[in-house]
Amino acid sequence: MNLIDSHAHIDDERFDEDREQVIERARQNGLSKIINIGHDLESSRRSVQLAEKYRFIYAAVGVHPHDAKDVPGDYLEQLKEMSRQDKVLSIGEIGLDYYYDLSPREVQKKVFIEQLNLAKELNLPVVIHLRDAYGDFLDIMRVEGLEPITGVMHCYSGSWEVAKECLNMGFYISFAGPVTFKNAQKVREVAARVPLERLLVETDCPYLTPVPHRGKRNEPAYVKYVAEQLAALKGITLEELSQSVCRNAEKLFGI
Ligand code: NI
Repeated sequence: MNLIDSHAHIDDERFDEDREQVIERARQNGLSKIINIGHDLESSRRSVQLAEKYRFIYAAVGVHPHDAKDVPGDYLEQLKEMSRQDKVLSIGEIGLDYYYDLSPREVQKKVFIEQLNLAKELNLPVVIHLRDAYGDFLDIMRVEGLEPITGVMHCYSGSWEVAKECLNMGFYISFAGPVTFKNAQKVREVAARVPLERLLVETDCPYLTPVPHRGKRNEPAYVKYVAEQLAALKGITLEELSQSVCRNAEKLFGI
């Protein structure tokens, strides 16, 4: 089997004790690629370092809405500098989070728009984190003339209506552990409707651990549980699902 974890945070301190083993288990479980995602400048730098060290790890660099309030004045230059590395595939994760509101909304919007423009300038796809902010996201993409940008809606949990708009803009839709949760019928209904050629899978590890390991630390090897769930929803084999998501990731990220 050949699988990809399109969204991992294995630079997280929760992997400090056994990062090598976690990466080895990912390999043994058939992962051909892992994209490690930054959420602030430090984790973006660590993602680039992991990509330099391991052939099958790639990186995304960006500032998460939670961290938007802490950016230094030159953060865009720093991200731009990091993106010169060949294995930086994307600007992310970036977006809006009105559920936790850990940064003021005006600051979230400003930092999001600035990074979308950076992605446009660098011709890179984006990894979008969005929670309770779908209306503002769609407005920003239209009003700012950012629709040529493409990317992935990470750990999607919104409605089918919004998913359709994202698909129309050319976005891919990625699902994580919650699609395996007992109470996530709505997420499964949306996932079942996303066309196979626009689906991605991810862990978002160390968070969002899928069933049957729910409650423990997540890791890239567990992406197979997400893939199995999606294959079941689509009525295809795990092998077919895996081939599709690998092809989709290669197309979107140019790898
Ligand atoms: Ni994440």
